[in-house]
Amino acid sequence: MPNFFPRWTNTLPLKLAICLGFTGMFVTAGVWAYFTPKYTRVGYEPPQPIPFSHKIHAGQLGLDCRYCHSFVEEGGHSNVPSSSTCWNCHQHVKKGSPKLEPLYRSIDPNFEGYDGKAVPWVRVHKLPDYVYFDHSTHVNRGVSCVSCHGQVNEMDVVSHQEPLSMGWCLDCHRKPEKALRPLEKVFDLDWKPEGDQLELGKQLKDQWNINPPEHCGACHR
Ligand code: HEC
Ligand code: HEC
Ligand code: HEC
Ligand code: HEC
Ligand code: HEC
Repeated sequence: MPNFFPRWTNTLPLKLAICLGFTGMFVTAGVWAYFTPKYTRVGYEPPQPIPFSHKIHAGQLGLDCRYCHSFVEEGGHSNVPSSSTCWNCHQHVKKGSPKLEPLYRSIDPNFEGYDGKAVPWVRVHKLPDYVYFDHSTHVNRGVSCVSCHGQVNEMDVVSHQEPLSMGWCLDCHRKPEKALRPLEKVFDLDWKPEGDQLELGKQLKDQWNINPPEHCGACHR
């Protein structure tokens, strides 16, 4: 029997099978991921080295989120503040409070036990490493902190409010009008639209040409 096909086709079925197999596995896993949001994370509220209260600082004192989370508009990561940010006030305010000892150990050379190390804040929100996420691209497109972190300005202890699962990301990407607000209101967690959110959101979506990605490569690079 003459061979009508060039040699390379010999391995073609195998290659195809492998490709399809992997794609199949990936898509199955993706569908699996979509339908199993990690609800277990919601409510996660680890104790912090200092009982820092957003309710006092962001709520009552009215400090802007950016005073402490200064990179949230520019960078992918929203930083947690360094000790010097707290020191601005607490070198005077409540000086000597036992609750602030880890701060003084970190920044005050006159404090007994001073070690100059950063305060070991415990991370609350964390995506797996294979997910790409950028804060600035959301915050600068009219998505408020409150949509993803809840009413932080009323929390004594920050807790995990949303699942941060793939299905949750995609829910908003498909219907961003549920969340969009004027840019100057992004950091105002108490803001409510005067009229209908969906109408306003649709208007902003068209005006700013908002089109959040849904293809796999956008979040898995
Ligand atoms: C005075 C400084 C300060 C201000 C102002 C502030 N934060 Fe924070 N924020 C912190 C510190 C310190 C932590 C880490 C300790 C903790 O989780 O409470 C933190 C943690 C967080 C976390 C959890 C981070 C993680 O580990 O996942 C979120 C979300 C957050 N802040 C949102 C906000 C929002 C939204 C605002 C504005 C309404 C705000 N913060 C204002 C200091 C501040
Ligand atoms: C703009 C000034 C300012 C900044 C910046 C600031 N604080 Fe405060 N903090 C205050 C004030 C005012 C109070 C309330 C004092 C009172 O209850 O009379 C307070 C209260 C506290 C308390 C409660 C102390 C006690 O004994 O009850 C802790 C803990 C605290 N802050 C931690 C921090 C940490 C950690 C940071 C940095 C992430 C920080 N603060 C940044 C002004 C500030
Ligand atoms: C679209 C959803 C979304 C919005 C809007 C958002 N965050 Fe986040 N935030 C996240 C996710 C997701 C993480 C976990 C990121 C990771 O693990 O890479 C996170 C993590 C954080 C952290 C922990 C440090 C870090 O960067 O991983 C801080 C602090 C924080 N956010 C503050 C804020 C503040 C302040 C705002 C508003 C100005 C805000 N976030 C708006 C989704 C959001
Ligand atoms: C509440 C709404 C909302 C949620 C929740 C949300 N996004 Fe988005 N996302 C947006 C909007 C709005 C844009 C901007 C689209 C545009 O600029 O046209 C965007 C853009 C993006 C982009 C493209 C821009 C860039 O940074 O490269 C990526 C990637 C992305 N989001 C990832 C995520 C991930 C991962 C999650 C979940 C952890 C998430 N998003 C959750 C609304 C949301
Ligand atoms: C808008 C952002 C976004 C898009 C688009 C996206 N994903 Fe994901 N994906 C995520 C996030 C966030 C997680 C992490 C979920 C978690 O930790 O709960 C994830 C997790 C996964 C996982 C791991 C599941 C697990 O439980 O370990 C797979 C596999 C996956 N995605 C496949 C896909 C496929 C296939 C597509 C395209 C059809 C896709 N993703 C599109 C955000 C996205």
